[in-house]
Amino acid sequence: MKKRILSGMRPTGKLHLGHLVGALENWVALQDEYENFHLIADYHALTTNLDSSEIYQNSLDMLIDWLAVGLDPVKSPMFRQSQIKEHTELHLIFSMLITSARLERNPTLKDQIRDLNIENVTYGHLGYPVLQAADILLYKGNVVPVGEDQVPHIEITREIARRFNTQWGEVFPEPEAKLTKFARLPGLNGDMKMSKSAGNTILLADSPDEIKKRLRTAVTDPLKVRRNDPGRPEVCLVFTYHQKFNPAEVPEVEAGCRSGALGCVDCKMNCASKIADALAPAREKRTYYESRLSEVKEILHDGETRAKQVAQTTMGEVHEVMKVG
Ligand code: TRP
Ligand code: SF4
Repeated sequence: MKKRILSGMRPTGKLHLGHLVGALENWVALQDEYENFHLIADYHALTTNLDSSEIYQNSLDMLIDWLAVGLDPVKSPMFRQSQIKEHTELHLIFSMLITSARLERNPTLKDQIRDLNIENVTYGHLGYPVLQAADILLYKGNVVPVGEDQVPHIEITREIARRFNTQWGEVFPEPEAKLTKFARLPGLNGDMKMSKSAGNTILLADSPDEIKKRLRTAVTDPLKVRRNDPGRPEVCLVFTYHQKFNPAEVPEVEAGCRSGALGCVDCKMNCASKIADALAPAREKRTYYESRLSEVKEILHDGETRAKQVAQTTMGEVHEVMKVG
């Protein structure tokens, strides 16, 4: 039997290059070797933003990006967490298996509190990893492809699975995190990573012209002021993008940058066109699905029906070993 992957994202709307490099490429690469479930974490979105008016639209936009980059909805169900009530039930049970002190130590939560200036953490936000554990374990996920920031959540998931199994009986596997090589793509402003809130992204849906426009704003080596000044590719995020999207020309770019023969504007425009090329197939598919929204909704409905069956089976086992529910 194939091992299972549970992969998920919060629906923040249209996805960017960071999502592609940090997650989606990995998801696509693993879709044959494993049995996959792709989760839209729409309840998780409420942990940092109570305005729910855009969650549905954002979920559809995200789903379209998933389809555009080549995830196959026939192989792998794609579904919203909120549509499968078993998530909330398992979340409740799991919340008895972990202390609040343990959740308060979660470094990902601490980062979020700092980055988003959160003054008072809600009970739900503190329990974010508990809901995530329910997401993963409801489908008995063995492997979870994630970025670095999510590794603490997988560790918490493992702890909860162990505690459940010891307390009531072996129901759950202990899932493993699978990191991507480029777990973080730097943002255009030089931040460690791309994020919608920082406004430093290139969207998968961006046209070649938009990509050029965005790259023009990218921060480069601050010591390379004039065109012919020698630069340091190792401190330049554009060079990181070259490594990812233009591997064949990396030696040339590196040498040109160091000697000063290559100017930043040319370097950026070359990089932009390579990124645009890499995104061309996804852009075409995106256009297809955008004009066929009923097909997209059908895919979601089908995914939710299939996911629900698996979730119900697992909850049946949970009820049986617990003798509750
Ligand atoms: N916490 C994940 C993120 O922000 C999203 C997520 C929710 C998730 N449930 C999941 C990821 C289950 C993997 C598995 O990126
Ligand atoms: Fe960065 Fe390219 Fe400029 Fe070098 S030439 S600093 S790699 S943009």
